[in-house]
Parts: sequence; structure tokens; C-alpha cells
Amino acid sequence: MRQERLEYLQKKYESRLNTVKDSDMMANVSGEPKRPKGPAMGPGRHGKQSMAVGKPKDLGKTMGRLFSYISHEKWKLLIVCVCVIGGTAANLAGSYMLRPIINGLTSEEGSVAFLMKGILTMLCIYLVGVVAQYLQQRIMIGVAQNAICKLRNDLFEKLQKLPVRYYDTHNHGDTMSRFTNDVDAIGEMLNNTVFQLISGTISIVGTFCLMLYTNVWLTLITVVMVPVMMKAVQTVGSRSRKYYRAQQAAIGTLNGYIEETVTGQKIVKVFNHEEESKEEFEYLNTDLRNKLVKAQFFGGIMGPVMNGLGQVSYSLTACIGGLLCVLRGFDLGGFTVFVNYSRQFSRPINEIAMQVNTIFSALAGAERVFTVMDEEPEAADAENAIRIVTDEKSEKCYYVIPKDNEVTGMDGFTDDVIKEDEGFYYKEVKGAVTLNDVTFGYKPDKTILRHVSLYAKPGQKIAFVGSTGAGKTTITNLINRFYDIDDGLITIDNIPVSQLERDSLRRNIAMVLQDTHLFTGTVRENIRYGRLDATDEEVEQAARTASAHSFIMRLEHGYDTMLESDGVNLSQGQRQLINIARAAISKAPILILDEATSSVDTRTEKHIEKGMDRLMATRTTLVIAHRLSTVRNANAIMVLENGEIIERGDHEDLLAQKGRYYELYTGLSELD
Ligand SMILES: Nc1ncnc2c1ncn2[C@@H]1O[C@H](COP(=O)(O)OP(=O)(O)OP(=O)(O)O)[C@@H](O)[C@H]1O
Ligand SMILES: [Mg+2]
Repeated sequence: MRQERLEYLQKKYESRLNTVKDSDMMANVSGEPKRPKGPAMGPGRHGKQSMAVGKPKDLGKTMGRLFSYISHEKWKLLIVCVCVIGGTAANLAGSYMLRPIINGLTSEEGSVAFLMKGILTMLCIYLVGVVAQYLQQRIMIGVAQNAICKLRNDLFEKLQKLPVRYYDTHNHGDTMSRFTNDVDAIGEMLNNTVFQLISGTISIVGTFCLMLYTNVWLTLITVVMVPVMMKAVQTVGSRSRKYYRAQQAAIGTLNGYIEETVTGQKIVKVFNHEEESKEEFEYLNTDLRNKLVKAQFFGGIMGPVMNGLGQVSYSLTACIGGLLCVLRGFDLGGFTVFVNYSRQFSRPINEIAMQVNTIFSALAGAERVFTVMDEEPEAADAENAIRIVTDEKSEKCYYVIPKDNEVTGMDGFTDDVIKEDEGFYYKEVKGAVTLNDVTFGYKPDKTILRHVSLYAKPGQKIAFVGSTGAGKTTITNLINRFYDIDDGLITIDNIPVSQLERDSLRRNIAMVLQDTHLFTGTVRENIRYGRLDATDEEVEQAARTASAHSFIMRLEHGYDTMLESDGVNLSQGQRQLINIARAAISKAPILILDEATSSVDTRTEKHIEKGMDRLMATRTTLVIAHRLSTVRNANAIMVLENGEIIERGDHEDLLAQKGRYYELYTGLSELD
């Protein structure tokens, strides 16, 4: 890879990947040149941050939180614990049986019958251990998978609650990676490691007690080794943990890149970027490999280090135990058993140490999952928020306004109250939209909309025109509360949108977004997304309204044609028609069309207009269009420039004004 290219990539990914300082390493395991150090860069090209990594995290808290996912299955955990204790105790008791057997054999009473009896007893004890282990495994797998299932659910639920702003600033592939990789890593740990930890701990304590019972002095020698082992676990472990966190972050970034390249494959080809993409992938892949190597290295040396220390302890015990037998008359059975225990004592410590790979991957994964879960969700609905209910019989919608909601104090509130009961006022939903002196910026330091005011009466059609980036889409984003305004007031039927339950508000507004999206499913399912209880006839009717019916009928399976990944098997215009049908099927009193027909030919557009006219007659419609022919018949046209409404009026008024609209309409501005 060329040096400049490498430097470019290093810079681009610095803040996302460079989570572990090279000085943290005991050995530079990889052959890759070290990254230049320097201040962390801001977000990468896409302005999306991957995550906040590298900060010291609260290990105990993460563990506690993970534990809360299994702790509610108390009975099962209790049985698992009993099994673990039983299994471990059986193991310990089984090996203790050697003492009476050996001592018996070396004394006068030793006989074949005695030996057989002893060994049979030992076998029975071990059998109990095996059964207990089997049970514990079976139950725990269930518990672990339940926990993982719940974790995935919680994470998904959280994703649904996150504000649009979150998706603006986070890489999608990385978010997905949290569902797959990170959750898998946690599953791996819960499946195996948790009870290995429990049984290991019990084993250590049990062995320790039996050792004490067998010989106090030898126990002391074994125990002296424990702090040495602990120190080793701590030293190696702290390094592993860092690298495991870096590893999970690198997996996320790589997945993000893959997702982006797969979805943008056509652009990659158009601009001949295959080679660059390959290089970038290679860079990220190598980075991941290096982190994996480092993580696995530190995870991997734990075993040998612990093993070595175990052998030292074993040899020392054997040596001194032998001397005690010869010089102090320590019984041979006791000696054999003790040497065995000294092994057994370090084995679980070893095993636990060997599990660091799984544990640290899982904890790093858990941290990433919990980071998403701790993200600020969309602000909660206001207290006593206003709901919208539909009357089954008349199919009319009503606002249910709690009497202690602040809107009840507004001037003229009672004018159109149609019903009142103990706690609530009822008002009919009509669909008037007003913006009053609205100011807004996506980021605090950059105002996008300035003092925008408008009033759309129920059933009116209001159009927004203006140059690219003027803020048209932003206005619609504010009406349905994708973002909250900084200043001013937006109301629907004189109710501030902030006082409406968010669900109710959005149910009140049917929208065709500027960027179309279709889900994997049939055409019918995609249209029905706009109103789930719509009948097949209504789906067809909506498709006719949107002029989509004829092309749908020409599809191989008509309405049952499967649409794959965002409708790649359709033309862009056809995708828009389905998006329009999806909005048309909704009965919401407000309809927002953002460049809904930008890819549709003018003839079809005329057809749609005719179809929609009937629909629009009963709805307040906000239309955004660059093609001015589509907005001519609007009741009012707002010309937006730089986030401000600079002209307003109907088509004739605006032409007469000979201002910006006139320029746009007559194409003068193109000539400028
Ligand atoms: N999610 C966002 N985060 C930050 N800034 C944004 C975001 N979306 C839009 N902007 C900025 O807000 C301004 C207005 O964008 P908006 O999408 O409203 O334009 P528009 O009038 O709909 O343009 P177009 O005709 O191209 O659709 C632009 O300058 C844009 O850079
Ligand atoms: Mg737009």
C-alpha cells in the first residue's frame, strides 16, 4: 500500500480504532508498523462515531448488569448451584477415597474384597458427579440462551426508541455488529464460563478445606503460591482486557465498512474504486488481525504461565510431603491424596485463567451492548400527554385531552370541544398545521431554520419550494418530531406537537420521505405497512391512487411479488409509487410528500395528481417539489431560501411578484 494512502487511512480511523496505546504491550506481536501518535481525530468521513472506547470501564458494573439477565431464573440457578456443589463435592470426595484405600492396602486388612469395595464406592461417588454435571450443563444452557434472547430483545427495543439523531451519528454496520458479534460473545460466556467460574471457586474452597484437614503444613506451602498466581492473572488479564475491547471495536468498524461497501457496491464500481476499497478493507482487516493476535496472545499465555506456576507448587508439595512421610510418619494415603489435591487446587485457577479469552470478549461485548442501551432515548411524552383515539363506528379521530394539560388554559380552547367527561375533553382531529416563528438547528452552533411561520388550514395543500439544502425536509422532520425545535411553536389543531403522545402524533401524519425505503416482503405487505388493518381491496385502491396498480399487475406475481433489499428489482420511479401508495392507504389527516414523484415521468405524475386530488381533498397536505408544475395548484406556496421563507402566496401571486419563485419558474435563475 502506498505511504500516503496508509497515512490517510490511519488518520481516518484513528479515533475509531486506536484504542490501545502501543506502550501497553509487553511485546509487539505484530509486524505492522506502529501508528503515529497524535491527538485523536474527530469523526471520520461520514461524521459518524463508532463508539467511545478506550476509557476505563466499570468491570463490576458490567458484570452485575449481565448477571441481572440471569438472576430472575432463581429456581433454575438454584438447581444449577446445587448441581455444581454436588458435582464438585463428588469430585473432591471421590479423590479423597484414595486415602482409605491406599492406607488399607498398605496395612494388614488389605484384601481384594476391600479394594473392590473401596473402588466401587469411589465409582458411585464419581457417577453422582457426572450426573450433576450433566444436569447443570443442560439447565444452564437454557438459562444462558434465555438471557441472550432477552438481551437481544432489549437491544432491539432500545434501537426502536433511539432518536433519529442517534442514527445520524452512528455507523450502521457497527450498530449491527453489536447484535451479532457482541451478543454472541456474551452467549459464549454465559453458556460455559459462568458455571466453570462457580464450580472452580467451589472446587478451590473445597480442596482447600480438605487439604487443611489432611495436612496443615503442606497446605501452607500450596497457599503461598496463590498470591503469585493471582498477580500473574492480574498482570496478564489487565492487558488482555484492553485488547479484547479493542478487538470488539475493530470488528464493529470492519462490519460497518463491509455493510457500507455492500450497499454502495454500484458506486464503488461506477467510480472504479475496487482497488481502494480493497486497500481500505485490507487495512481494517489487518488492524483487526493485529488486535486479535494481541488479544489472543495475552489470553493464550495465561494458560502456560499458570501451568508453570502449578507445576512449581506441585513439585514443592511432593518434595516436602515425601520428606514428611519418611521423617514424620505422615500416612502414605494422605500424602497421595494431598499431592492430588495440590494439583486440583491449581487446576480451577488455571481453568478460570484460560477462560479469560471468553470472559474478556464477552465483557467487551457487553460494554458495547450496554453503551447502546444507555443512549438517551427519544424524550418521553409530556406529562398528561394528549392521545388520539379512533371512533370505531364513525371512523373519526378524536383528541383525548386530560383536563390538567396546559393547552386547556389557552384562549378559545373550549370553542370546539365536542364532548367532556370527568377527566378529559374531546376534540375532533381536523389536521390544521401551524408553525409559529420556528427556529431550529441540527447542531447547537448552526441554525438551519430561522423564524419560519406558516398556517395550513384543514384540507389545504401547502407547497414548499426552494433550492437544495434550503431546509424543506427539515420542516417536515420537525412536524413529526424527528427532532425537537429550539425556539417557536409547532401545533396541530392548535395543540403543540410536544403535548401530543409521539405515537399519536405520527399516526396523524402520513409521510412519503425523500429517500424511499421498502422492506423485504411482498408488494402488498409493503403497501399495507401504512395501515396494518387495510383489506386487500384497500391496498389495491391505494395502489390505483398512486398509479402503481398497472405496473404492479405487470410484475411476475402481481401484488405477491417479493421485494428484496430495498426493492432493487424495481425502478426508482416504481419504488416511489409504492411509497406513495403506502402513504395513501393511511387515513391520517395530514399528508406530507417530500419529493415523492421526483423520479416519476410527468405523465404518470399527472395521473398520480388526479388520483391523489380526491385523497387530498380531505387532508392537509404539505408538498415539497423541485418540479414546480406539481405545486401550481397548491393553496399556498412557500419559497424557502437559507432556512427562511422569502416569498409566499399562490402560483399567480408569486408570478406577479416577479421574485425568486418567478425566477425559478421561468428558469431565469438557471441562467444566472
Ligand atoms: N441530519 C442532519 N444533521 C445535520 N445537518 C443536517 C441534517 N440533515 C440536513 N442537514 C442540513 O440542513 C440543511 C437543510 O437540509 P434539508 O434536508 O432540510 O434541505 P432540503 O431543502 O430538503 O434540500 P433538498 O432539496 O436537497 O432535499 C442542509 O444544509 C443540511 O446540510
Ligand atoms: Mg429535502
